[in-house]
Amino acid sequence: MQTKINLDQFLVNKEVTLQTEPGLKEIYYKLEEATKKISHVVNHAALVGILGKADKENVQGEEVMKLDELSNDWLIESLKSSKYCAGVASEEMEDFISFDQCQNEEAKYIVLFDPLDGSSNIDTCSAIGTIFSIYKRKSKGELLLSDFLQKGNDILSAGYVIYGSSTILVYSMGHGVNAFTLDHKEGEYILSHEKIQTPTSSTILSISFGYYNFYEKRVLDFCHWCLEEDKATNRPLTQRYIGSMVADIHRNLLKGGIFLYPATTKSPNGKLRLQYECNPLSFIQKQAGGKYTNGISDILEIVPTELHQRVPIALGSSDLVDKYLSFK
Ligand code: AHG
Ligand code: MN
Ligand code: MN
Repeated sequence: MQTKINLDQFLVNKEVTLQTEPGLKEIYYKLEEATKKISHVVNHAALVGILGKADKENVQGEEVMKLDELSNDWLIESLKSSKYCAGVASEEMEDFISFDQCQNEEAKYIVLFDPLDGSSNIDTCSAIGTIFSIYKRKSKGELLLSDFLQKGNDILSAGYVIYGSSTILVYSMGHGVNAFTLDHKEGEYILSHEKIQTPTSSTILSISFGYYNFYEKRVLDFCHWCLEEDKATNRPLTQRYIGSMVADIHRNLLKGGIFLYPATTKSPNGKLRLQYECNPLSFIQKQAGGKYTNGISDILEIVPTELHQRVPIALGSSDLVDKYLSFK
């Protein structure tokens, strides 16, 4: 039988980034701690009375679910207990939080997260997730807003945890993408997918056709191309859209495909958030050999001007992203 390698062992033995950034190990330990708790409660939500709405709206005017709040609290609580973490910013909070230890030199890292992605799927037992990214702070002493407005290419490490039929943590520190499946019995993330490379040719289209009447011509032209019949290019493509970005991206990462959340006439910047969703998932996609775009330029090169910036996005296998970009 093969020896099981857990995430902590893998980080210590295989992750070259830890040689220069040893504090990242503890940040990961804290992310593991919080996401194991979230995974447990997501699996038992109906039994512990945690389904449903929290009866408030977040900074983006979206409905907050009880599990959004709880996940947010647990991530903050865990990260706050690391001397290496200076502060955090979350999709669910208007402002970033500075931890007391931010004054210390060891507190070199900040973490940005979407505590629970796919909120609308929480109550229906569909896959949801946590998305995170870790940056090195630029300031010393007090944290500044500018620490949280770094471009995606400054990410030190990013990843997500998908709470689906399994709980899987996928991460990269800039040297490939690896995934770890939570062994619920042992309470450990065990290496299950090493050096993930996304297929370069693919057959899955992930977009909401609910906004068909609000997309620009270019998006519609691309979708029509995807739906045409052509055996040589495996068309028509298969449509898969869950409505949890993390779940749509995870499936497409493994199977090949393109995910789009474009601009609409009603939301000219799309819906998805640059720092909490698009940057970390583009970073993963890039590390897995895939592509990503806002339709015009490199998402990871955008310098954010605010904490809750939105951006249109298309990402996935290179053949389909290139094809999308060929439509003007
Ligand atoms: P969140 O639950 O963190 O607010 O994110 C939901 C996002 C994303 O996960 C998903 O792809 C998208 O919203 C779905 O939006 P539509 O319902 O507009 O398709
Ligand atoms: Mn989200
Ligand atoms: Mn969310």
